[in-house]
Amino acid sequence: MALGIADRTGTDPVPGSAAEAQPVTDAPLIFFTSASGYTGRFAEKLDTAAGRIPLHTSAPTLLAQRPYVLLLPTYGGTAAQPGAAAAGAVPKQVIKFLNDEHNRSLIRGVIGAGNTNFGESYCLAADIVAAKCKVPVLYRFELMGTSEDVAKVNEGLEEFWTHQSQKPA
Ligand SMILES: Cc1cc2nc3c(=O)[nH]c(=O)nc-3n(C[C@H](O)[C@H](O)[C@H](O)COP(=O)(O)O)c2cc1C
Repeated sequence: MALGIADRTGTDPVPGSAAEAQPVTDAPLIFFTSASGYTGRFAEKLDTAAGRIPLHTSAPTLLAQRPYVLLLPTYGGTAAQPGAAAAGAVPKQVIKFLNDEHNRSLIRGVIGAGNTNFGESYCLAADIVAAKCKVPVLYRFELMGTSEDVAKVNEGLEEFWTHQSQKPA
């Protein structure tokens, strides 16, 4: 008979507990996607390997192992309150990831996902992270992106990493 309980075994750590190991990635693209998963679906369509920032803030954040481009959606506040959109725009899971100095030292560029219905705050989170970390915004796209967006980002990332590898250390 089904008991209706999660398939966690007695040895699995509880998410967010001290026993949960910190995930690491050597992917050149790191992304956050919320439960709606649009940004994740875009990342899956790219040629590059991608590491995911955990959905739950309580879980240990991802640890980057090499220079990476960050792909993130914007979750703005209300346009009616000045400053509110900017205040909430960067998902808290991404803030936790970037609060790690090692992760912050390895960011090289940002790609923004958003929705043009949000007007001036379209992809605002990408602009905020780029300004804070002093790296460029490489591309912006809506929702899960079009096939043209996928092609442009594939091409752009290849060029970007070639250029980066030619920079003096
Ligand atoms: C509550 C809410 C607020 C949002 N605010 C913005 C915004 O300020 N600017 C923007 O470009 N997109 C905004 N979006 C759109 C999301 O960034 C967009 O749907 C994105 O594809 C979501 O990615 P995800 O499914 O990977 O989380 C918002 C969406 C929601 C649900």
